[in-house]
Amino acid sequence: MTGKAILAFSGGLDTSVVVKYLQEQHNLDVVTVTIDVGQGDDQKKIAAKAKKLGVKRHYNIDARKEFVEKYIFPSIKANALYQKKYCLATALARPLIAEKVLEIAKKEKVTALAHGCSGKGNDQVRFDITLRAGSNLPIIAPIRDMNLDRTTELKFANKHGIKIDNVAKRFSIDQNLWGRAIEGGVLEDPFNEPPADAFIWVKTKNLSTKPSYLEIKFEKGVPVAVDGKVMQPINLIEYINKKAGAAGVGIVDHIEDRVVGIKSREVYETPAASCLIEAHSDLEKMVHTKHETKFKAIVDDEWSWLAYSGLWQDPLKSNLDAFIEESQSRVTGTVKIKMLQGSMRVVGRKSKYSLYSHDIATYGSESTFDQKLAKGFVELWGMQSTEANKLQKKR
Ligand code: ARG
Repeated sequence: MTGKAILAFSGGLDTSVVVKYLQEQHNLDVVTVTIDVGQGDDQKKIAAKAKKLGVKRHYNIDARKEFVEKYIFPSIKANALYQKKYCLATALARPLIAEKVLEIAKKEKVTALAHGCSGKGNDQVRFDITLRAGSNLPIIAPIRDMNLDRTTELKFANKHGIKIDNVAKRFSIDQNLWGRAIEGGVLEDPFNEPPADAFIWVKTKNLSTKPSYLEIKFEKGVPVAVDGKVMQPINLIEYINKKAGAAGVGIVDHIEDRVVGIKSREVYETPAASCLIEAHSDLEKMVHTKHETKFKAIVDDEWSWLAYSGLWQDPLKSNLDAFIEESQSRVTGTVKIKMLQGSMRVVGRKSKYSLYSHDIATYGSESTFDQKLAKGFVELWGMQSTEANKLQKKR
């Protein structure tokens, strides 16, 4: 062997194939690292898989706490939904995984960095950019470099005795605490409804006819308690994933614009993310002025785009983070969500920083709002628009 490569290893099809390619085509020793971001895999099984593939050393790093606190929570504060739909589960995990790979790379004194991303996706963008920001070592991406497709990979895996489970044969899956992305197979026809067995987190059959509720308490934009119980960050997200998933809530199906220009059909299961972002943005609207709400939506959208497109390290992102953090000082309160047969909606909210005033808003006799003041306001508010309209009609 003529050197040593490090690889973020999930134990799935792509990264298993990459281990063999690195050994056989590049003549490299391989060190594998599995980062636990809540994907729920059996870490012992993955370590055994790595060993069977003949890696020199395998690391398992539990990064769940860091993932929630430094990646998921900031994304909730930013109401981060790419193209109004996708909660960025995969996108948020990539820079963290790459950071951890770099840490081990130093320790192991490797000569190359490797990843299992294809040349068609967003993950290559996220990995390459984070790896490049922290190291000058060559980056090897065999799937991309050799233009491999899934059929060829499956054949190669078979030849090398690499076992791939049935779901992974039908779909390409990526999952972590924040969501489960399902791509490929029959989903590649955007008109095909996803088959029920594509879903694992969200119940799609025999749903209860009785509603269930979630009461989420936020402090400075961060969820701290659910249904009256204070929970640790990881448990809180797991709890909502379970409860909302059982109510059929959290399936997202949309057409997504990838960074490399491809339009793709993406299906996700994101029960906790869907509920938490809906609840958080609802609470913000109660405590922020209309000016804050309007402007922050622009910041949120840009934040989501930077995170999606692999620019997690760009200085603009930390600029936006500073703005967003400042905006969260009053985002404290409780939001009530009602879930029924796959649908979800906010049905109540309260906050000590609420700008909602019953006395001003009420149509009842106790109102303190002087309607007479509105007359002059409306006249001035519409002055230019009415004038322009009149002129247009004259012409
Ligand atoms: N489209 C999503 C994203 O770019 C999900 C990608 C899922 N990744 C995967 N390797 N299957 O973040």
